[in-house]
Amino acid sequence: TAAAAGSSSDGENARAAAELARRIAAEVARRRNFAIISHPDAGKTTMTEKLLLYGGAIHEAGEVKARANARSATSDFMALEKQRGISISSTAMTWQYQGSCLNLLDTPGHQDFSEDTYRTLAAADNAVLLVDGAKGIEPQTRKLFAVARLRGLPVFTFVNKMDRPALNGFEIIEQLEKEFGLQSYPVTWPIGSGDRFCGVYHRPSNKVLLYAKAGRGKAAASAQYELGDPALAGIIEADLREQLMEEVELLQILGDEPSAEEIASGAVTPMYFGSAFNNFGVDLFLQSFISLAVPPRPAKAKGNPAVLAALEPSEESSSSSNGSSSGSKAAGSTSIEGTVSPESTHFSGLVFKLQANMDPKHRDKVAFVRVVSGKFDKGMKVKVARTGRVVSLSRPQQMFAQSRATVQEGFAGDVIGLTNPGAFAIGDTIYAGPELSFPPIPSFSPELFAYLRCAPNQKKAFAKGVEGLLGEGAVQVLYSTDEYITDPILAAVGQLQFEVVQYRMKDEYGVDTTLEPLSFCVARWVLGGWPAVERAGRMFNTTVVKDAYGRPVLLFRNEFAFNQVIAEQGEKLGELSAFALP
Ligand code: G4P
Repeated sequence: TAAAAGSSSDGENARAAAELARRIAAEVARRRNFAIISHPDAGKTTMTEKLLLYGGAIHEAGEVKARANARSATSDFMALEKQRGISISSTAMTWQYQGSCLNLLDTPGHQDFSEDTYRTLAAADNAVLLVDGAKGIEPQTRKLFAVARLRGLPVFTFVNKMDRPALNGFEIIEQLEKEFGLQSYPVTWPIGSGDRFCGVYHRPSNKVLLYAKAGRGKAAASAQYELGDPALAGIIEADLREQLMEEVELLQILGDEPSAEEIASGAVTPMYFGSAFNNFGVDLFLQSFISLAVPPRPAKAKGNPAVLAALEPSEESSSSSNGSSSGSKAAGSTSIEGTVSPESTHFSGLVFKLQANMDPKHRDKVAFVRVVSGKFDKGMKVKVARTGRVVSLSRPQQMFAQSRATVQEGFAGDVIGLTNPGAFAIGDTIYAGPELSFPPIPSFSPELFAYLRCAPNQKKAFAKGVEGLLGEGAVQVLYSTDEYITDPILAAVGQLQFEVVQYRMKDEYGVDTTLEPLSFCVARWVLGGWPAVERAGRMFNTTVVKDAYGRPVLLFRNEFAFNQVIAEQGEKLGELSAFALP
């Protein structure tokens, strides 16, 4: 019944479209989407809590943790979490601050992290590197930083726990430079640490902010002085004042304020000091962060030229160099590779995480979608690029702290939880409007391997469980090339993934399983496929297995064995990838 539209309604449509475009552009511009990367115990939970406080999002410090505990006590899947005293699940939190809309993607902080940690970073636009002032860079920071680097994220560094004895700021600057090749630009600078922590010097305003311990849930109200104010003499001891003046001079020598591009590209990290626990320095960080962090960026995609801007020739070559020769060919000869703007009026999103049983009462599965472009509306119909299926998004949830609120609309950078069982897989593109699909999210290189076995009479449920958990991306699965060995080999980046798989096999599929660890720690996909493996001939020091798609993967006991095989057969094997390509 689409009656012939009169010219007046054409005009109305055009006005509505212009209004929508304006609205989307405004919403995108004020969004800041980020993840915190840190080593366990550096203070991520505490920092998150304090950051949320600034949006009036939670009213009492301690609420994030308290809620996490309340939840794990009531949820059966989370019983494992409680038992281990850790947070397995990660959620997205959203709040408003000084006109900006902040989206914090929470990455699980335990050292037994899993692929989820990586994938969450794949959905973030900015990374906040949280460092324990006494410890500096720690192992997990390294791994997570590598992912942030891979994605070219801007990095903001907050040095925490300055109320405890800490390394000198320059030592941390040096660590970042040496380990990551990352230049620092301190926005604030500490005055002493531990018992002698006096506060920070704020470079943009040339002011000294005195440290005051905060009460629970309250920001520390700190007095401010100009750097040269003689009154400081009566407040800060002479040696610390002298040190500060020297260090301020040194900072000037160290470098000028970085350009927006230098920050956006991740070449220079703005740096801040403070104490999350005492809510000191967190506000200075947040104010600076919302002005320097990047809003949602255009994303690479394949599809209809009506939604995509063509890539520059140089970008094209770099986009194919990661070997993402995806099997999902974009249909039609009109399909191009390009970028989709977050401000496009066509909705698109990327499923970056699936989680089952977040709410045990509903036994549901939540697909976390990052909105990439356009406007998401509750109840809208979208197409899943992989299956071509049309899905109505009628029950969208926005994750906020640990509770769920129903969202009505969303824009690029927002994370929405969808409860459409079975419709989505990790890496799925969903869209409304002209066809498009995003490149696959790389799976991260597994470092732990084990046979997963079950009793003979449970084979059927077992197979179903393996398929389910594999589809969800809970773990990677490999198989022996020996056709008589049908037990799957689980491949994970963290031990916890194994435990979750076993727990869920029992809990959701009723299957008791045993694990037989394998002593491999390196995996490489052979991009040249089986012909390359044949060319290489007999290989010592490696075991050839296949992945869920039948592609060859080499497993090595250690780096030494890996290097040996590369030295001997590297040429014949051709290109190897540490990541599984979907
Ligand atoms: P995480 O999520 O990164 O693992 O760290 P979390 O926030 O749980 O903090 C780890 C510990 O460090 C906590 O102490 C926390 O109170 C403390 N902490 C965080 N920020 C600061 C800070 O700025 N200064 C000092 N001195 N301590 C800080 P806990 O004793 O393990 O736990 P709790 O009993 O305080 O909850």
